[in-house]
This record gives sequence, structure tokens and C-alpha cells, in this order.
Amino acid sequence: MQYITDRTFNTKAQVKNDITDLCFEWIASNQDMDKTEMFSILLAEGFNFMSISQALNFVPTVNMEWLANPVVITGQSKPITIKGGTKINSDKIEMWVLDDFLTTAECKVLIENIHTDMKPSGIDIPNPPKDVRTSKTNFSISKTSAFGEHLEWRFCDLLGLDPRHAETMQGCHYEIGQEYKEHPDFFDPATSTCIGKYGQRSYTAMVYLNDVEEGGETVFPKCDISFKPKRGTAVIWNNLNLDGSVNHNSVHRANPVLKGTKTIITKWFRTSKGLPVFSAEKIYAPRYTDKGFKITALFDVQFKRVMEIYKNHKKNEISEPPKRAINSDSQTPSTLIPFTHEEGLELSDMVHARLEEWTGIKLVPTVQYGFRNYNRGTTLNIHRDTEDTHIIGVIINVDQQVDKPWALNMEDNYNHKHEILLQPQCMVFYESRNLLHGRVSPLEGDRYVNLFLHFKPKEV
Ligand SMILES: [Fe+2]
Ligand SMILES: [Fe+2]
Repeated sequence: MQYITDRTFNTKAQVKNDITDLCFEWIASNQDMDKTEMFSILLAEGFNFMSISQALNFVPTVNMEWLANPVVITGQSKPITIKGGTKINSDKIEMWVLDDFLTTAECKVLIENIHTDMKPSGIDIPNPPKDVRTSKTNFSISKTSAFGEHLEWRFCDLLGLDPRHAETMQGCHYEIGQEYKEHPDFFDPATSTCIGKYGQRSYTAMVYLNDVEEGGETVFPKCDISFKPKRGTAVIWNNLNLDGSVNHNSVHRANPVLKGTKTIITKWFRTSKGLPVFSAEKIYAPRYTDKGFKITALFDVQFKRVMEIYKNHKKNEISEPPKRAINSDSQTPSTLIPFTHEEGLELSDMVHARLEEWTGIKLVPTVQYGFRNYNRGTTLNIHRDTEDTHIIGVIINVDQQVDKPWALNMEDNYNHKHEILLQPQCMVFYESRNLLHGRVSPLEGDRYVNLFLHFKPKEV
């Protein structure tokens, strides 16, 4: 696929609302190209969505983010990097391990989901022998739960690979005695009918959802590598060599479970359209800082002013309309204390320069809701902000009446999980679009008031 480096037109200086004749020619001469890819290229060239849609007579069904940051396919394989993971020291295989990719609670939910709908696992080869793979598989895990769907995305995010090149993840369960004998994850290039338009299997990402009392190890005999299942740990490997040929060292087996059970999640990626292997550059929003968040505090004089605004408007506290991520058994999980537009800008101004210093980019303030108060028992789903206006954020603890500190859960740019405890006047700067965040423990307290200030890069 040469189009990234061999574009036949350059439209940078032209009006972006109109597709030029040159572009129409380019579209006409690339009729065999996938329309989604064509859409990505034209977006990258700066044309607007509607113009492209009209020119191609096509509306893409994939997420805008994937379109706007198309995978860069170089035709030359490039090893991936798993932030926070450990690269296995081997010249025989490209492999990474990442502990605690999933939390205990997440593993528990997934195991429950997997158990609801399992079928014999099966193998993608003609006339498979009967006893090679004796486990059961749930093929629909991402379609039956919101978390499953979210996890699909996290896998792609973790590997830095375009979701368009991913297979749907599968849950797999082994009882005592069940196993998957030695096999490759890649398809046999000579005999397989599976390669098709999605290409060869490249990376495998596998996560153990429980510890196994005995047995169930994943063994790569040609590399002398073996993993004992450990709850939450992800193992990621490339089934191909850098030149795109299949790596026979990647053959592996799942030893029979001897005691207990074993449940895993597996996600495979494809090379797509016969390319040797693909690599991706930042399919999601760019990272602006190393870790992704920073804990700091307002200056005294600033906090005094925040409290003044807060107290002036406290009498106007209103029930907040239900928010998707905010949950509580009580009727009103959160209330809102609005302030004026000018006050919102004044509050944003307090942190603006420090945020720019922290991120190293110019920012513009976007949204200031008011002071949000959470009521007892409230939790906040783990999420990333999805709005274009919520790229860089600040959470300020304004006021609290709590029986115990209420942790803010945040996963940093290295996939490490943190519990952040903020006292009033303290705040956290964070890449709200990039970092998973939420509050998983219910609030033990009668009041917890936060101020959120949102920013976006100036050029977006
Ligand atoms: Fe496998
Ligand atoms: Fe958020």
C-alpha cells in the first residue's frame, strides 16, 4: 500500500471545502482502495467531512478518531512498545508482558460474562484433529457487555494498533485436563483460507483472568519461554518476523489445567491486505506529557477566590441531570452549583499558564460547568473523556465532608493505576482524553465538591 508515501496530489494550499478536480481524478484512479482508507487520506489532506462524503458517496462507520489519525503503513515492520510493560529478552520472538493490565474486579466481571455463553473452541485449519484444543470459547464477549466493548478499544490502545486491523476478542475457558496443544497463531500461508482480505495474523494479546492452582502454563518451546497464569497479566507477542514472514518460533501451547480452572481473553491483530506487517503511529490523540497527570495545588490567594465564588453561589445549588458515568443508588448522585461565564473564565485563567507549562503546548479554555457536588454512595465509571473540548483537564477539590478520603482512580500513560487523594485546594492536571479515570469506590461522606476546568490544544 503505497498511498501514504506516494500521493498523487497535494492539496495543502487549496480550499479545503471543495474537492478539487485533481482529487476526483485521484479518487477515480484508486477505485480499488478501501473507501474508509480513502476517507482517511482526504481528511488528512484537510478536506472537510461532508465534502469527502459527497465526493465518495460514502459515510464511514468507524470512529472519527481512527479516520483522523490513520494508521501509517510503511510496509516495513516496526516493533511495538508496550508502555509500562517488560520486553522479553529474546532474539527469537518479539514479546512483552504487562502485569495488572486488568484489575481483579475487571477480571471477575469478564469471567462471569464469558461463562454465560461458551461453545467448543474450534481451530481455524482444515480438518482439525479432535483433541488439539479442548477448551470452550465465548465469541461474543464484546457484544454483550459495555465493558467488553471498552476492552476491545483498550487492547488496540495498548498495542498502538488500528482497530480496523483487529479481530474481535474471544474469551476462553479451560477446565481440569483441558488444553491447547502446540500450535501457531499465524495461518499456514500455503493452506489457510483464513488470510483473506484481513491478512495474516500478526500480534496476539492474551490476558489471564485468574491465577491457576496448577498447570495451564503458556509455553513457547522454541524460545524456552513459559508463563504461569497470573490474574490481570497481559502477554503480547508477534507471530511474524520483521520481514512479514511467519515466525515459527512463535508456536506455543496451553498446558493442561491440573488443578482449578483457567479463563483468558485473547485478541488477535491482522496485517491487512497482504502487507508484510503493519505498524501504527498514534492512532489516538497524541500524548502531551510523559506520565499524563500531575498533582499540584492552587495558590492560597487563588483558592480564597474560588471559595468566594463557591460560597456566593452555594444557595443556587441544583440537582444535576443524570450523567452517564455518575452512578448512585440515591436519586440524585450529584448536584451542581453554577457560576457566571465570566467567573468560569476567571477560574480557567488561574491554571491556564501552569497547564501550558506542564503540557508544553498552547491551550484554550473550553468548558467550565460549575461546582459539582457528589452525594454519599456515588461512584464514577472509569472512562476517558470523549468530547473534543476535553483534552486537558483539571480537577480541583473545593470542599468535602467525608468519613474517609475518596480516591480518584487514574491510569497513567504507562498503564499504571493510581489512587489519587486530594485535599481541598489540591488539584490534578490530567490528559482527560487519554487517561482512564473515575471513582470506583462509593463516596463515604455527605459532600464532595469538585471544580472541573477543561482545555484543548489551540490548534484543534
Ligand atoms: Fe495460540
Ligand atoms: Fe472525565
